[in-house]
Amino acid sequence: MTELLGGKVAVVTGAASGIGLAAARRLASLGATVLAVDIDGDGAERAAKELGGRWHRADVSHSESWERIAFAAAELGGTDVAFLNAGVTTGQQDITALSDDEYRRIMGVNVDGVVFGVRALVPQMAAKGGGAVVATSSLAGLIAFPGDPIYTSTKHAVVGLIRALAPRLAEQHVTVNAVCPSLVDTPLIDGEIRDELARAGFPLIAPEAVARAVEQCVTGVETGQAVFVQLGWPPTAYRFGHPPGPRIEEAQGKVPPGWLAEQPS
Ligand SMILES: NC(=O)c1ccc[n+]([C@@H]2O[C@H](COP(=O)([O-])OP(=O)(O)OC[C@H]3O[C@@H](n4cnc5c(N)ncnc54)[C@H](O)[C@@H]3O)[C@@H](O)[C@H]2O)c1
Repeated sequence: MTELLGGKVAVVTGAASGIGLAAARRLASLGATVLAVDIDGDGAERAAKELGGRWHRADVSHSESWERIAFAAAELGGTDVAFLNAGVTTGQQDITALSDDEYRRIMGVNVDGVVFGVRALVPQMAAKGGGAVVATSSLAGLIAFPGDPIYTSTKHAVVGLIRALAPRLAEQHVTVNAVCPSLVDTPLIDGEIRDELARAGFPLIAPEAVARAVEQCVTGVETGQAVFVQLGWPPTAYRFGHPPGPRIEEAQGKVPPGWLAEQPS
């Protein structure tokens, strides 16, 4: 049987654990050579050994890390697939209690880690004639999650970034999609949250279900999609509404009478 990703190089961040590890296994099972990236170097090394791939210890929130990650990927022949997945939460509901360090850390990992990753790896994909970027957002990137408003804002940022990047990257035959999982059974929710979720009766998705959504994004032709992963559903592209666009003709007839006249010409 021909392997779907035979000969391809897949960079996976957060590959030491949870969703990243499950996706790294899935991509490797499809024939890809995986470069496992994680701040947990031991975990990344374990993943690479299991998958016959390579590993790199790096903090994805630092732009300098990405020069080294890109170099490691280039040594393998250049990136075909980037799964930009590493992420953290604050667990902080009260914004007045949020420290600068907590704020910078989550923005750094969840947003900068995706921005820097796309910037560093897309040129390698373009040079190879195309590729696929998948970033891990969350259901919290599509809905408002009051339990962690800053986490919610980072995941909305990922969805906006992916959607806005898609048309330009399509010119280089690079697809770019986000996966938006509901609650997943990984160490990220260990501790009090896990107990609270169990008490509330919330079911958890297996990380392998998210890995299947990643495969769908990587092997498909769709781009600019936010694919939600929820129990009882196949991975499904979320359908966004259409707010009035910036062109005046789009707005005409759809705004309260008199409003257009008040706008500067
Ligand atoms: N678990 C859930 O319920 C859930 C739901 C929706 C989205 N997500 C998202 O899925 C992604 C993966 O989370 P997970 O649930 O597998 O958690 P996890 O904690 O099992 O895995 C996260 C991995 O990211 C690594 N990491 C953290 N900071 C890093 C950094 N600065 N640089 C490099 N690696 C770093 C960790 O060492 C860990 O291996 C995250 O983006 C998370 O926000 C998780």
